[in-house]
Amino acid sequence: MRITLGVTGGVAAYKSAELVRRLQTEGHTVQVVMTRAAREFVTPLTFAALSGQKVITDLFTGGESGDANLESAIEHVAVAQRTDLLLVAPATADTLAKFARGLADDFLSTLYLASTAPVVLAPAMNVNMWQHPATQENLFSLRKRGVRIVEPGEGYLACGMTGPGRLAAQEEILKAVREIVEAQQDLAAETVLVTAGPTCEDLDPVRFITNRSSGKMGYAVAEAAARRGAKVILIAGPTSLETPVGVERIDVRTAEEMLRAVQAQFPAATIAVFVAAVSDYRPAELALTKIKRKDGALTIRLEPNPDILATMARDKGDRLVVGFAAETDHVAENARKKLAEKNADLIVANDVTAEGAGFDVDTNIVTIFSRDARDLPLPRMRKAEVAQRILDEALRLRSALRSKPATHRAGD
Ligand code: CTP
Repeated sequence: MRITLGVTGGVAAYKSAELVRRLQTEGHTVQVVMTRAAREFVTPLTFAALSGQKVITDLFTGGESGDANLESAIEHVAVAQRTDLLLVAPATADTLAKFARGLADDFLSTLYLASTAPVVLAPAMNVNMWQHPATQENLFSLRKRGVRIVEPGEGYLACGMTGPGRLAAQEEILKAVREIVEAQQDLAAETVLVTAGPTCEDLDPVRFITNRSSGKMGYAVAEAAARRGAKVILIAGPTSLETPVGVERIDVRTAEEMLRAVQAQFPAATIAVFVAAVSDYRPAELALTKIKRKDGALTIRLEPNPDILATMARDKGDRLVVGFAAETDHVAENARKKLAEKNADLIVANDVTAEGAGFDVDTNIVTIFSRDARDLPLPRMRKAEVAQRILDEALRLRSALRSKPATHRAGD
């Protein structure tokens, strides 16, 4: 999991150095963000050396170099998108107040607002500051919002007083992180098969028919499923994308190769998501030598390719089958038709002509059509987020279908 660790200004800041190590040992990637005050206690160099990543310090400067540029000015959004869990340890009273109020005057508080990831805060402060009604009210609003607070421990504080205020024991903080990680592993029992990218149908040794699919949507589904604990097999046509961490990729070129690979993997799958833009036709003849230029028109005869989704969904058993529908018109009508004709459980439909949707962009605007007729229109969102919603829908439909016969029995 990608954890962003916020370190704010308190004597306990040095303890977070060890926390970086522990989180890494548990398999997480850690990006450290330090507030200005935190840097009075520990240097960013310590955290950079431990985390192996550049430490983010200020909003609008992006780092120690101090050169403001557009890239760093919007870096909080980029970091927010890369954050699966935001952990702040130690969190000062000031940080709690900023988060509770929604102030955004430094990198960390801006990141908090820009991120949709779960948040864990481990406060540390003077006992009176901790017990002050202002702090307690802030904690109340944060908890109400779902923020997890790892309560400070009691003991001798740096200010000379004793009472609650010490940064919680490292084990307590790690326990809170583990609980969140486990809660997000809701696909741990699943094997997810994903097809992605275009297919290439060869005409001769140098020419082929293909389409504009970038593979981004399919790769996003594979990545999201792997993050949620699934075993993921990605069967991919030619793309320039990197295989997501934890995903097994099988490369194919043509629709026929893709079908064969899918047939081999489908029996083990519990969820199959067909995102690939499979070429519906292929040249009827493959020329073994380069086709030469001649006078007059050249006719290429095409023959149909197998419909991979429809072929597999025919005998899908209790697997959940998700298809896509790339449309340019009559989106809902065509999507519902595909849902029925291909025997799919969900069809994710998009109008590929809409701005912010379709090929080679990072966002998509889709409606998820479901076998149980619960259509879910989604606003424009990043493909990574669309992928999460598709997986959420698959799980929702699975439990809806499972609970149906039980209701029947109860009514019998
Ligand atoms: N699909 C497939 N094999 C094919 C064609 C499509 O597995 N030969 C799958 C796609 O991966 C997608 C769904 O079927 O999940 C619909 O693809 P799409 O191209 O929208 O539809 P087609 O069935 O090709 O219909 P048309 O091109 O006429 O819209």
